[in-house]
Amino acid sequence: MKSVVILISGRGSNMRALVEADLPGCKLVVVSNQPDAEGLAYARQRGLATAVVNHRDYPSRAAFDAALSEAIDMHQPDLVVLAGFMRILGEQFVRHYQGRLVNIHPSLLPVFPGLHTHAQALAAGVKVHGCTVHFVTPALDSGPIVIQAAVPVQAGDDEDTLAARVLAQEHIIYPRAVQWFLEGRLQLMEDGHVLLVGEQPVPARLIAPAGE
Ligand code: GAR
Repeated sequence: MKSVVILISGRGSNMRALVEADLPGCKLVVVSNQPDAEGLAYARQRGLATAVVNHRDYPSRAAFDAALSEAIDMHQPDLVVLAGFMRILGEQFVRHYQGRLVNIHPSLLPVFPGLHTHAQALAAGVKVHGCTVHFVTPALDSGPIVIQAAVPVQAGDDEDTLAARVLAQEHIIYPRAVQWFLEGRLQLMEDGHVLLVGEQPVPARLIAPAGE
């Protein structure tokens, strides 16, 4: 049985998509830094093991990271999944999980790292926006890309409509990436490249506005 620890800070809709994907032969554990995270209630209701490591209880980032690591490592995870986990993790933490720590970010990285990605996209006037699953490296919102989904930015979009369109894709690509990893098809190589065995062919072009 594979073990996956999912870290959340709030709503937890990506965690929910992972739970609902019913990944075979896989035990999911949910850990939050926010005791009142909405996603925790769902995880408990689904009977998953949960834990809270409240960052406010620790005097430093290093102390928090160490406590978080301890809570995670109890479950001997094959993979640690950041799903809307809104704390910056220190280099030592990230190195400890190198090759088995993934994140989802609501933009087509490397554009629009950080917060308010949908506002950033609207301000930049891009026609295509999206989301990215990547292996985590010490730099914020960077790291070898596993999968991305693109959506059009439509006339009249605001942050909420765009966020909803992107989030629907997040819920598709994250379970897919996690499943690849658990099947042993996805790997972070020593040289920093991502190896995906048996990838499906994709259409050769994606143009927005679509036109002819
Ligand atoms: C998601 O859109 C996720 O991509 C984003 O937070 C949201 C969490 O939603 N993550 C980041 O911005 C990380 N840099 P969720 O709690 O419903 O999954």
